[in-house]
Amino acid sequence: MSQKILKFPEGFFWGSAASAYQVEGGIYNNDWADFCRAGKINDGSMCQLGPDHYHLYEKDFDIAENLNQNAHRFSIEWSRIEPREGHFDKKEIEHYRKVLRALKKRGLEPFVTIYHWPVPKWFAKKGHWHGNRDAVKDFTRYGEYVARELCNEVKYWVTINEPAIYTLNSFFTGVWPPEKKSIFTAKKVYDKLIKSHKILYELIHGYYPSGKVEVGVAKNNTYFEAYQNKWMNKAVKKWADHFWNQYFLEEIRRYQDFIGLNHYFHNRIKFNWLRPSKSFNQNENKETTDMGWEIYPPAIYHCLKDLKKYNLPVYIFENGLADAEDKKRADYIRNYLRYVHRAIQEGVDVRGYFYWSLLDNFEWKEGYSKRFGLVDINYRTLERHIRPSAKVYAKICRQNQLVL
Ligand code: FCB
Repeated sequence: MSQKILKFPEGFFWGSAASAYQVEGGIYNNDWADFCRAGKINDGSMCQLGPDHYHLYEKDFDIAENLNQNAHRFSIEWSRIEPREGHFDKKEIEHYRKVLRALKKRGLEPFVTIYHWPVPKWFAKKGHWHGNRDAVKDFTRYGEYVARELCNEVKYWVTINEPAIYTLNSFFTGVWPPEKKSIFTAKKVYDKLIKSHKILYELIHGYYPSGKVEVGVAKNNTYFEAYQNKWMNKAVKKWADHFWNQYFLEEIRRYQDFIGLNHYFHNRIKFNWLRPSKSFNQNENKETTDMGWEIYPPAIYHCLKDLKKYNLPVYIFENGLADAEDKKRADYIRNYLRYVHRAIQEGVDVRGYFYWSLLDNFEWKEGYSKRFGLVDINYRTLERHIRPSAKVYAKICRQNQLVL
């Protein structure tokens, strides 16, 4: 049987992604900690110790290295760095400096996210993003502090993770803290995030006189399809593409050195005249993950092609699935990568792929029961077990190619 080999570009970054609140454990000083304590997590999880990555990061990076990864994306926890308004904790910066050095020592290039959603309690008390007139100032002061302290260790900065998902869930549908439900509030916050990104972009560049830095966001983009190409579905698709996928990127057009793509979703739009909000997600393909999210690998190809117009390098900062039994993960990775490769062949400058996630972790409203990790975590003993799919991914990383 003849094999087909799909080679990836030289120097391609192969990694996995994570965020502080989801893996570190021991974070009690932010709005999500209060949300958990109030019993609002679907499976009753309290975000306490989790995988305890805060203490076990060396062990976890050993695993990533052994899995042939050469990059890692993680985030800094704002409430650790600035536990009280205007008071910065040097000790915590030193912790992250050690994390960065531990990555470098193992040949893992760090990609650092400044903001992956939770806010310190003092910021929430001041009115959070929506009700605090100084929100942008407060946030960018924290971001600037982090960049100033760590500029010698970091080349790739992600200012904000998934602004659209965050704004939707926290300020429009209100299922995440601070549980606001207003389209006007959501729009206001979205614009504050845009402004914050632009300010941070300039500030971070200011710390790198050599110009050797890349700054961008991690943007969640969905592939929207107009069901049966009907005109109304097409009109809604155009609207969704603009507001969901492009608006943020257009607004920061001159303030990004790369596009970070987080990709999970495909949406067939079938316009529902009576209940417009029900027009989305008419999926015919019923293969899903443990989250109920559809598995549809061509979607990533379409999202990537859509980004070509920006003429910038693209990093896929998240793509992955919850699959407790590890039955679908290996195929999922292989199939999505096939489509990533196709996009590269067609001229999209993709430079890296980060599987979400290295470890099982706290999946926000769903708690710890959803298993996204290449590595299984026993939350009682903190033992780590490498899942079989991780080895499939490791081979791709080592060979820098996918063998079909
Ligand atoms: C993304 C988030 C990430 C994780 C994955 C599954 O939307 O950025 O923190 O929860 O989904």
